[in-house]
Amino acid sequence: MKNNQFYWGTGTSSFQIEGAFNIDHKSPSIWDDFAHKKGNILNDDNGDIACDHYHLFKTDIALLKELGVNSYRFSISWPRIFPNDNFEVNELGIKYYIDIVDELIKRNIIPFVTLYHWDMPSYILKDGGFENRQIVEKFKKYVEVVVTRLKGKVKNYITINEPQCVVEQGYKSGTHAPGYRLTSDKRCLNIVHNILLCHGEAVRVIRNIDPTASVGIAMTANVSLPIREDEELIKKVKEKYFSIKKSSFYGVSLYSDPVFLKDYPKEYYSIYKNILPDIKKGDLEIISTPIDFCYQNIYTGNLYDLSKNHHLINKKWSKSTLEGTLSWLKFAPESLYYGPKFLFERYKKPVIISENGFCEDDRIINGQIVDTSRKLYISSYISSLEKAREEGIDIRGYFYWSLLDNFEWAYGYQKRFGLLYVDFSSQKRIKKDSFKLYKEIIKKHTGDR
Ligand code: GCO
Repeated sequence: MKNNQFYWGTGTSSFQIEGAFNIDHKSPSIWDDFAHKKGNILNDDNGDIACDHYHLFKTDIALLKELGVNSYRFSISWPRIFPNDNFEVNELGIKYYIDIVDELIKRNIIPFVTLYHWDMPSYILKDGGFENRQIVEKFKKYVEVVVTRLKGKVKNYITINEPQCVVEQGYKSGTHAPGYRLTSDKRCLNIVHNILLCHGEAVRVIRNIDPTASVGIAMTANVSLPIREDEELIKKVKEKYFSIKKSSFYGVSLYSDPVFLKDYPKEYYSIYKNILPDIKKGDLEIISTPIDFCYQNIYTGNLYDLSKNHHLINKKWSKSTLEGTLSWLKFAPESLYYGPKFLFERYKKPVIISENGFCEDDRIINGQIVDTSRKLYISSYISSLEKAREEGIDIRGYFYWSLLDNFEWAYGYQKRFGLLYVDFSSQKRIKKDSFKLYKEIIKKHTGDR
């Protein structure tokens, strides 16, 4: 992967690291409200201080530089930019992000800006959030301000992070903000459609303001994986990866087909024929406004084999499979081979892995953090990615999740994904062994130009 064009980075998101939840005129987001309600988050943690990145961003960017990345993905907090529904820009909010971007540029790190990583202003939710199509106009105004103000400095935008989790965790299981427990597929389909419209309209706003910018949306799904290399099995596994299932709002094609192929998958219309959302004329054109990259967050996969009758069967991971402190996170490095391969074959867009990471119970031993599993995870996953690249799959970047241990949503500060250990009482950052490993990997790939 010796290629100057390859983006080596790490990712973060505003709510998970910034803290400063009520500082410089920022108004509450749905995640502030959700976390402040007892019982929603493990240990009743919240994002009030988080990694205090609001005040420590220069320290963190210096560490990024030391890591040797050429790129950094972070998100902007909408309620910092527009604290109220009157569309008055909060200059202190925008200045904060301009400062971050300037600091990155000064250090030769390319900024990748996510516009929506789940911290919706609370006042937008009061008006219906993603259930109300009017959110599209509001999101457009927010995007317009951000892109206008960052023009000339930021060239890469991700409109929305993981619509899959917004719907499933935010609106269905209620484990994430806003904590709804919708049982109606019809309402969920409407949410999916409105999120996609927000994305499509945002692409248009960005293109109008800065035709040279690159744009994408970060999707996610466990990759369907063959238990062995067998042609028939791989073909079926790939079909599985892009299939949709009634009442499930995870998965790839429900979101990525309209974005890249201008229509929902065929099965969508049969499965949901009586409860389709209001798809207006022109909506699919908006949603499929051409974008530059296929961003995908990939952590793990589901394993499949063929039955005697050649049907696909789900295989359990063996008991000895390494897993993260979040049990869904199985060690499945092939995900970074098959995932980008399947995506590139279907959507024919250069793929960027916008998130990939591992949570482990890091402990400090004599001032050092020996995170052996994370190291194994990173090196094995990147090897798989390299294999795909060598076979001609157009992959342009890899962003490790995450730079810092941070607020891991419903799990608060208990689950650690960082390359940097954060002591949340002193805000001290300690480089884990994986930091050093990732640094070496980047150096190996970019060093001898
Ligand atoms: C997500 C989010 C990240 C998480 C990470 C680990 O993928 O859910 O984008 O913010 O922290 O994925 O769960």
